Amino acid sequence: MTGTWSEADRGLAGRSVSAASGLGQRQVAGDARVAGGRGVSRFVKLMVAFLVIIILLSATFAGVAVFLIGERVVAEAEHRVASDLNSAGEMYDASSDSLYDLIRLQADRLSLRDALLAGDVGAVAGELTATMTSEQLDFLTLTDASGVVLLRAANPGAVGDSQAGQAIVGSVLGAAVPGVATTVFTAEMLGRESPGLPAIAEIELVETRGARARDSAVETNGLVLLAAAPVADEEGDVIGALYGGLLINRRVEFVDRIKATLFEGAQYDGRDIGTSTIFLDDVRIATNVLNEDGTRAFGTRVSEEVYDWVVELGKRWVGRAYVVNDWYISAYDPLRDPDGNVVGILYVGTLEKPYTDLRLSTSLLFLGITLAAMLAAVAVSYVFSRRLSTPVAALVAASRRVAAGDLDAAVPVTSNDEIGELAGSFNTMAASLRDRDARLKEFARRKVMESERLAVVGQLAADVAHELNNPLQGIVTYSHLLLEKMEPDDARRSSVEKIANQAARCTTIIRGLLDFSRPQKPHKRPADLPTVIDECLALVEDRVLFHNIEVVRRYEADLPATVMDPAQMQQVFMNLIINAAEAMYGAGRLTVTAQLDPERRVLWAGFQDTGHGILEEDMGRIFDPFFTTKEVGHGTGLGLAISFGIVKEHGGTITVESEEAAGTTFTIELPVSTAEGEGQ
Ligand SMILES: Nc1ncnc2c1ncn2[C@@H]1O[C@H](COP(=O)(O)OP(=O)(O)OP(=O)(O)O)[C@@H](O)[C@H]1O
Ligand SMILES: [Mg+2]
Repeated sequence: MTGTWSEADRGLAGRSVSAASGLGQRQVAGDARVAGGRGVSRFVKLMVAFLVIIILLSATFAGVAVFLIGERVVAEAEHRVASDLNSAGEMYDASSDSLYDLIRLQADRLSLRDALLAGDVGAVAGELTATMTSEQLDFLTLTDASGVVLLRAANPGAVGDSQAGQAIVGSVLGAAVPGVATTVFTAEMLGRESPGLPAIAEIELVETRGARARDSAVETNGLVLLAAAPVADEEGDVIGALYGGLLINRRVEFVDRIKATLFEGAQYDGRDIGTSTIFLDDVRIATNVLNEDGTRAFGTRVSEEVYDWVVELGKRWVGRAYVVNDWYISAYDPLRDPDGNVVGILYVGTLEKPYTDLRLSTSLLFLGITLAAMLAAVAVSYVFSRRLSTPVAALVAASRRVAAGDLDAAVPVTSNDEIGELAGSFNTMAASLRDRDARLKEFARRKVMESERLAVVGQLAADVAHELNNPLQGIVTYSHLLLEKMEPDDARRSSVEKIANQAARCTTIIRGLLDFSRPQKPHKRPADLPTVIDECLALVEDRVLFHNIEVVRRYEADLPATVMDPAQMQQVFMNLIINAAEAMYGAGRLTVTAQLDPERRVLWAGFQDTGHGILEEDMGRIFDPFFTTKEVGHGTGLGLAISFGIVKEHGGTITVESEEAAGTTFTIELPVSTAEGEGQ
């Protein structure tokens, strides 16, 4: 059986009260701190963190998505307009081809050959004029084999000049190969072919934002689609050339056809979506792009950026462009003359607005969805955190009530998750605290009653002892006087001796009672613990009781001296030593130790015996006054009670460990103090 008994147990009732009140104070202080400095709730923090992540993710997601949508829409628009430009180019080529076919067929006519061979071109003048008119050509001209003009259907008076220098005409005469090309005609050349053409070709330039600087304010040149074919005799030798042309300036049928074919009259906000233009150099000469007033924007010009790219470098340009008065997704291709020089531009563009609107509406739709998702996430996280925080808040409130001493606090268990488990554990904890509290109270009540009873008994004993002391001294004195006067062989002598012995025993008991009830004031001075113990051992070692007891000393070297009342401490040690010897029935080993706990600055004195030990049920009572297991006449039961009082008065503790039939160890702990009056 092992048990411990210490001052803490002995003073349980009193100390538990003071400990509880101490706890209460600390808790109040703690609450004040919590109430004053309490930060943002953990759940609010959790929710805010959650929301920040959601918002950041959504914003990034939305931003990337909007950007990609924009890119995609623009890319799609550019792709579309580029393919429109391809179609426009094919239509332009088809027009060239039909002009080419027309001129070639006309040149093959026998009447033309015969007229040339006969040297009488006047015979075909009417025929050529009719063809020119029916085919809506701007001019149709016949030359001889050297390129000298013999007949101009549109200007019969102007003959005799050489057109061999015209690239196409030159190659027709030289190689007998028909050809078609886009060419630039000066006003003079136009006028020669047909007097009315320069006036049609002339276009006033309009100041245009972003266009390159130009010297003149008017464009007098004409862009002409020109086809030429050889006229051959029966042997196949070239005897002349026929060429005809279309002035593209102001000729809008072509660009309108492109627009109608590609865009099929599609409109947006009351405006045509698609536009098409042919430029001469950088001037709009045939276009369906409109000015603010609704007129065609002849004379407006292409931006310098596009000009540099398309005319200077001869490359296709696709992208956003500001055209006359609005933004268009535009595509420009160079138009080349027979020598490969860029002389003009073919343009197709579609209003940007439908695409920006599409981009905007898609982005808005997307943002709306993201926002809705975000709001849903906020709502879900709010509901979730409420569900989490409500029971936790209830737990916090209940914990506060418990901390404040209300052990009836309980929380409802609303779920069977971790929170529910926590609430259940809390309730169990509160219940066990309640139970423990009740038991403590009962224990304290019993202890108080007991100590009250002991106090009464102690007082009574002290009074009785005091009253008995004087008569007892009389009995002792007179019984000794009687013995002195008696003869040694007096038959009454043994009776008187018994009186003297019993009276002496009564005196010891009475002194013990007086010691216990009125403890002496200690006279403290610095003393060496091993020395004090050794003095006690020296007093008892010669007694018969100790003859078969081996005393083992285990003293730590250089122990510090400490302030104590050596006489009182000796009383304590003597009692422990004699108790040990009696528990061993005078045979066994008593180990006495003295050592220092440097950390806590306390000295230990230990008395370990190999005696019969203490019964478990007696452990709680051995320090009680008058508790003894010794035979009547052998112990008063005051030894440990007095010792406890002395050690306590020295600011120390006394503890016991015992095992039945194996032995007992008493340990005394004394604080190391140097100043007198310290450690009390
Ligand atoms: N070393 C020990 N081994 C076993 N039991 C002990 C030991 N010391 C004390 N006790 C028990 O504690 C009881 C109380 O001891 P305490 O010293 O207070 O009184 P006592 O020795 O019986 O009488 P007194 O000391 O007044 O002569 C003892 O009767 C004994 O039962
Ligand atoms: Mg004793």
